[in-house]
Amino acid sequence: MDEKQLLNLMNTLSVEEKIGQLVQLSGDFFNEGAMAVGPVQKLGINQGMVQLTGSVLNVLGADKVIKIQSDYLEKSRHKIPLLFMADIIYGYKTVFPIPLALGSSWNPDMVNLCNQTTAKEACAAGAHVTFAPMVDVVRDARWGRCMESTGEDTYLNSVFAKAMVEGFQGDFTPGESLASCVKHFAAYGAPEGGRDYNTVDMSERRLREEYLPPYKAAVDAGCELVMTSFNTVDEIPATANQWLMDEVLRKEWGFDGILITDYAAIAELIAHGVAESDKDAARLAMEAGVDIDMKTSCYANQLKPLLEEGEISLKKLDEAVLRVLKLKNKLGLFEDPFRGASVAREKKLSNCAESKSLSRQAATQSLVLLQNLNDTLPLTKEWKIALIGPYANNQDLNGLWAVYGDKSQVVTLKTAFEEILNPDHFQFTQGCELLDSYEGLGDFGFFTKEETLLNTDEDKKRELNKAIELAKWADVVIFAMGEHTLQSGEAGSRTDLNLPAIQTAFMEQVLPWVKKSILLLFNGRPLVLTDIKDKVDAILECWFPGTEGGHAIVDLLMGYANPSGRLTMSFPCAVGQVPIYYNGFNTGRPQKTSTHSVRFTSRYLDCPNEPLYPFGYGLSYHTAEYSNLKISNSVLRSGEQVEVEIEVHNSSEISGDEVVQFYIRDKVGSVVRPVKELRGFQKIHLKAGEKRKVIFTITEDLLRFHTRDMKFEAEEGDFEIYIGKNSEDYLVTNFLFEKK
Ligand code: BGC
Ligand code: BGC
Repeated sequence: MDEKQLLNLMNTLSVEEKIGQLVQLSGDFFNEGAMAVGPVQKLGINQGMVQLTGSVLNVLGADKVIKIQSDYLEKSRHKIPLLFMADIIYGYKTVFPIPLALGSSWNPDMVNLCNQTTAKEACAAGAHVTFAPMVDVVRDARWGRCMESTGEDTYLNSVFAKAMVEGFQGDFTPGESLASCVKHFAAYGAPEGGRDYNTVDMSERRLREEYLPPYKAAVDAGCELVMTSFNTVDEIPATANQWLMDEVLRKEWGFDGILITDYAAIAELIAHGVAESDKDAARLAMEAGVDIDMKTSCYANQLKPLLEEGEISLKKLDEAVLRVLKLKNKLGLFEDPFRGASVAREKKLSNCAESKSLSRQAATQSLVLLQNLNDTLPLTKEWKIALIGPYANNQDLNGLWAVYGDKSQVVTLKTAFEEILNPDHFQFTQGCELLDSYEGLGDFGFFTKEETLLNTDEDKKRELNKAIELAKWADVVIFAMGEHTLQSGEAGSRTDLNLPAIQTAFMEQVLPWVKKSILLLFNGRPLVLTDIKDKVDAILECWFPGTEGGHAIVDLLMGYANPSGRLTMSFPCAVGQVPIYYNGFNTGRPQKTSTHSVRFTSRYLDCPNEPLYPFGYGLSYHTAEYSNLKISNSVLRSGEQVEVEIEVHNSSEISGDEVVQFYIRDKVGSVVRPVKELRGFQKIHLKAGEKRKVIFTITEDLLRFHTRDMKFEAEEGDFEIYIGKNSEDYLVTNFLFEKK
């Protein structure tokens, strides 16, 4: 349809029919089970409105979608197809690593490909829109949703935001692409105390400098939808925040797609205390420019009276409806309301060999080697290997947001080892439980807690003894430990970020018998590893690696692949340090350079300022040396560019990938500037012995920030450049920026 036809169609709709387009319900309203994650409530929507609903939440599967769509269209007066929206965050049936892990790959092209694959699989299952990417900047490991983000850095998240949106959307080919919804707008990743849904409050400058750019990058990449966040922004909940939605998103950024709420967020304006009633809440959301109400009855029941009373205008309603119709049209739903959904195609694509192979590659690049004392890794086939721990033979490797992931396809560590080693060289046992108690974790839609396997004291003792026997037998013990899936993800905030006590206590009992030890970690956030790191030889951060996790991990452990992942979130020494991130401000009394006596510098009495593992950190099996940092000109003028070049030498006999990281520091600004900011990176492959020059180009654009009077511009003066392996290990040079 062209724009005129769409307008004509809209003008033939009754007010109720228009409102229906702005209502999103879950599948239970259509007699099909939906995956419910947020609080399910009795909505109080009449059947008439259900039949007018414009979109459906979290129902997928070609059979279900085709049936709901057919039934709906049969009864519909205007035959406007339903939009099927779902949380397809890092995979459909084939699950890729969690986004925090994907971020660690520093490989946006690969992540783009993962999303293309996911889009194809999910289209076959009937999806039209995905609630991804989540690009919230995350700096507080207490927050469970760190797992959904690519990390703490504004620039890196922006790069991934673009790659992810482009991967999902492609060129909108029906059957191969999804419309993408960036979330959670805005600053959801900065809740006070790391507690989910809690207050977010920061200066406008900080919001614009550090938190907004990744969403903007997604919008600039053409994402079709934006989701409002649950939190407040300047004491106004995002869902009712006119400044944020209208002034910034629509007017400044020119976003003309659909603004949808997060789950039930309009009704929650009442609990926030900015609305008295559903009606008041609907009015506020409408005024802020929210188009679709996810899962409340506020729009369904209140927009009509608000219109009749003149509280909202027909123009505003029409604008919202037109946006929804435009997306349906762009997706080609008027021509084909099923858009590639097919039971046969879904079956063929789900977990197909190609997707699995990409998932394995993604997991391989996402794992981060944190410690490797005495070159414990890689292992050799001659060694006797004991694999011990609650993740030794556990298919829960998908993490919490793999809503549709097919757990039965997950390759466990045990399976992967047994494919290459016989029992003379490989033995395994569970050893201990994941947690002492599963109380308090709550339920999370699709994810159900497994029953405890080691019920009695006798069971526990037997397992411990078996673990000790294996430790005595083995040349090396691999401990497969970590968080329970429900300990991270939405509403998974925690204050204790150590490994669960039952696991460390178990390790203490086995370690005395161990010759060499490797700790594999499965978790959705940075953990505090300060104590445990001194007790083991090697640590490999595995995150939740997805369908092919077992294979990818074993590939790295055996040296069939060389680790290349680098952290995108700092790992704290202690919870008391969080929020902790590499690009803070210097303060007036920086610990290392202040002229004040030690007592009076900015520091902790009982803990270093630095994290245990910094942003950008990760080891490999090869060794790389960085040298000869050179700058083409020590002065940069507006409109010109300078180049910085560094030489990277793989001085080992193993080929491998390096993530060459490029940071800038603005030495003096009209407002304080971060101690460094990532401004570029290159992931390069170096053969054994290879030397390569890596070049970064600096232009005025890289130097812009929100100045004292809130202009976005570069200021003249001295800049430092750091290029190296991570945010704490680099070479330094500098230049002067002058405006002509
Ligand atoms: C989450 C969103 C998600 C939505 C729909 C909410 O609880 O915050 O990230 O997209 O549910 O399932
Ligand atoms: C303290 C002030 C104090 C001043 C003079 C500073 O270090 O922060 O509270 O008044 O010294 O002694």
